[in-house]
Amino acid sequence: MDQLVIEGGHPLKGTIRISGAKNAALPILAATLLTGGTFRLRNIPKLLDIDTFIELLTDLGSRVRYNSDNGSDLCIDSSDLSDHEAPYKLVRRMRASILVLGPLIARLGRARVSLPGGCAIGARPIDFHLKGLELMGVNLQLKEGYVEARTRGLTGARIYFDIPSVTGTENLMMAGVLARGTSVLVNAAREPEVVTLGQMLSHMGAKIRGLGSSTIEIEGVKELRPVDWEIIPDRIEAGTYMMAPGAAGGRLIIKDVITGHLEAVISKLRSTGLQIDTDKTSISIKNRGTLRSVDVKTLPYPGFPTDLQAQIMVLMSLASGLSVITETIFENRFMHVAELRRLGADIRIEGRNAIIKGVRRLNGAPVMATDLRASASLVLAGLAARGTTTISGVHHLDRGYECMEQKLAAVNAKITREKRV
Ligand code: UD1
Repeated sequence: MDQLVIEGGHPLKGTIRISGAKNAALPILAATLLTGGTFRLRNIPKLLDIDTFIELLTDLGSRVRYNSDNGSDLCIDSSDLSDHEAPYKLVRRMRASILVLGPLIARLGRARVSLPGGCAIGARPIDFHLKGLELMGVNLQLKEGYVEARTRGLTGARIYFDIPSVTGTENLMMAGVLARGTSVLVNAAREPEVVTLGQMLSHMGAKIRGLGSSTIEIEGVKELRPVDWEIIPDRIEAGTYMMAPGAAGGRLIIKDVITGHLEAVISKLRSTGLQIDTDKTSISIKNRGTLRSVDVKTLPYPGFPTDLQAQIMVLMSLASGLSVITETIFENRFMHVAELRRLGADIRIEGRNAIIKGVRRLNGAPVMATDLRASASLVLAGLAARGTTTISGVHHLDRGYECMEQKLAAVNAKITREKRV
């Protein structure tokens, strides 16, 4: 397995361009199952999770190829689906495989999808997805670790989410577009990734109202058509790099973003004392030499994203004063804390709160990446730490950050990848 070696303490300088959003690309890839014909998707990020999803689509019978002139453009044709199963070997690698459930049941009237099981950041059930489909007239059976879904025809339903679920909203929206009648998703997720999926579905001929609000209304249609679509920039990748000057010092310009998607992050980072200037598609961040502690609570969009909780904890570990970070979305998302402590961070966990007392400096050490965003926090900590930090378990990072070490090395970070066979 590869590892990253970081020599900390070098202030950053330069520009980082943001790739397409993983969490927008995955449901959009799933949506290509809804109809035959050729979709063209642009700005697809090069990530392990995308490769896994393409493997899943290919297994199902979709024809997928990259445009040879531009490695981030994909053509997908799902005219001849030959299977309706998402097998354990793929779902185990990536929970988001569950996103094929809605489109398969809508298109074929049946689907067999492995249950995701536990994961590093908590139980993460899929009960909302299943309850919603049942209300739409799907017969569900759990057999040998698989959800077996069948319907003679989806019918629109009013579905209430106990907690706004991102992939839950996406799955049920994709089911609703081909259902008979109108579906209403109440307390739905409002994330930009949900909105861009809904916009793409509308472009395909779906009738959807209320995108970006917590009530989404979908009037089923008989047919959809394939479209060309561009993946929005990754706000989590952008937020991660926005924190890098806070950790390592220096100044970065983050380009190709939608600044409006990062309001909570910009506001929080400004409160820490970082100087941030923005226009619509780029953000400049400068470390003015001191970092102040702030409290952070993760919330559904437009609140502060749970996917940036581990990263901001690194900044709070180096800030003056005491900070409380409250994780309200996932019950077990503090795996990075033990590793940050190995670098000298002073962090105590009390239930869903992490209490962080800023220290003057972190010191390099060998650490282990446990999940995607935890890995990103270790990279930030390594950039800040005195001496050398070696991060193993880097495959987690490759799931969600395109060319991270190249992007950072280009802005003066001393970071290299050591290949291990
Ligand atoms: C998505 C993102 C992930 C992000 C998360 C929260 C993708 C591919 N992944 O994950 O990066 O961290 O949103 O912003 O887009 N819940 C249930 N039952 C369900 C579904 C969810 O109880 O059926 C709970 C979860 O345990 C969690 C909360 O609802 O506490 C929100 O989870 P959800 O939004 O569904 O996360 P994902 O869609 O899996």
